[in-house]
Amino acid sequence: MISKSIQSCREAIYRDLQQCRRGTFQLFADIDPDTFCRQAHPDFSPVGWHLGHIAYTEDLWLLQRCAGWNPVFPEYHQLFAADILPKKQRVFLPTFPEVELYLDAVRKKVLDYLEVAPIAHQERLWRFLIQHESQHCETVAFVLQMQKEEGRRKKEEAILIPNSQSPIPNAEGRRKKEEGRRKKEEAILIPNFQSPIPNAPCPMPDSPAIEIPGGEFYIGSDGVEALDNERSRHLCYLEAYAIDRYPVTCSQYRDFMASGGYQNPHWWSAEGWEWQKVHLVDRPLYWSENPAFNNHPVCGVSWYEAEAYCNFTGKRLPSEAEWEKAASWDATNQTYRIYPWGDSQPNASLCNHRNNIANTSPVDSFPKGASAIGCCDMLGNVWEWTASTFDAYPGFESYPYKGYSEVYFDGEHRVLKGGSWATFPQALRSSFRNWYYPGVRQIIAGFRCAK
Ligand code: AVJ
Ligand code: FE
Repeated sequence: MISKSIQSCREAIYRDLQQCRRGTFQLFADIDPDTFCRQAHPDFSPVGWHLGHIAYTEDLWLLQRCAGWNPVFPEYHQLFAADILPKKQRVFLPTFPEVELYLDAVRKKVLDYLEVAPIAHQERLWRFLIQHESQHCETVAFVLQMQKEEGRRKKEEAILIPNSQSPIPNAEGRRKKEEGRRKKEEAILIPNFQSPIPNAPCPMPDSPAIEIPGGEFYIGSDGVEALDNERSRHLCYLEAYAIDRYPVTCSQYRDFMASGGYQNPHWWSAEGWEWQKVHLVDRPLYWSENPAFNNHPVCGVSWYEAEAYCNFTGKRLPSEAEWEKAASWDATNQTYRIYPWGDSQPNASLCNHRNNIANTSPVDSFPKGASAIGCCDMLGNVWEWTASTFDAYPGFESYPYKGYSEVYFDGEHRVLKGGSWATFPQALRSSFRNWYYPGVRQIIAGFRCAK
């Protein structure tokens, strides 16, 4: 009996490792050498670095630490370890075929080791590594999109030769220059649509807020796949609250933009307005005026923009506990669901994930993926900012290293829930917690409102 369940655990890990890796290589299917090595944004490493770091991390934890074997390519330690080189020095990379060779060499040994590994004691570590790869792949997915958009814009600029005749008055010139600089910095990922039709009729999903009565529920997870920051699962009491059925859509967000929300400090917190005075943004990073996106979730906003929009509508961001209760608590049966729809694994008919669409989708596309209480689009499509700072749950213990979660419990990072269109299935569940600084806009993030 025992050996049979161990065997099936080994097989499940084998399946998930290989499935995840296929997704990884799909992202690099038509990579060119420049895109592989170039840093698209100072906060993010080149995509090629992520790929090497995936192999390095697998080698370190499984082959060196568990099996006690020597590193596969010791010369890569300096380059691909998480905390040695600053991001801007991660551009001096081996070629894609060389890094591919590294991944394959490590993976071959890992699969050999899997046959003999004491898996009953190691399942958590193997599950961690699959999710580690999954998360780096999500970063690769949005960095690649940023680079694609940058390439498209450069081509456009080369065609439209700027006319240098009319000297512009100083202030106006500065403003134009500033606008140009900002646009250059901020890739609009969604293809450029020639004719903006701001008020085109497009029915908004009817989204009355869902009332959730006060009471206790379980937050977090002790499952073998749960990362350190999800543990321990614990009872949590929440007062009654209301949460929106859908994430905020582009057409809803357009009201905020059209009413001058970006220019009006009234809607912004003091910290948010300080941020806005520095960055001078006037639309989400991944904004499109195409009415086809009206029912898509707004995407590419910082936490501060989400906060300002909530203030504008008289609502607020949900806490992460409020978000998770709406996603996972089945009040009728007094049970906890791993996913909003139940306990069956994500698939393409339940949510927009694993680059199936490689873009956002209308927020009402997956009625089968709704939670017990009726919230839609909780997993996939866009990450959702919450009001919560990233903190340890009771009973927290770092795993497998402090630098995974613990160093980010600094009161500065905000929690995001739910995953995006680029999230791999292994990192998709209601208890999963993601975290970034509130000013970050490059991640695939929107939000939903509570009250
Ligand atoms: C949790 C997504 C913010 O990618 O920086 C990867 C995950 N930690 N390797 C990140 C992570 C170590 C992390 N995020
Ligand atoms: Fe990492």
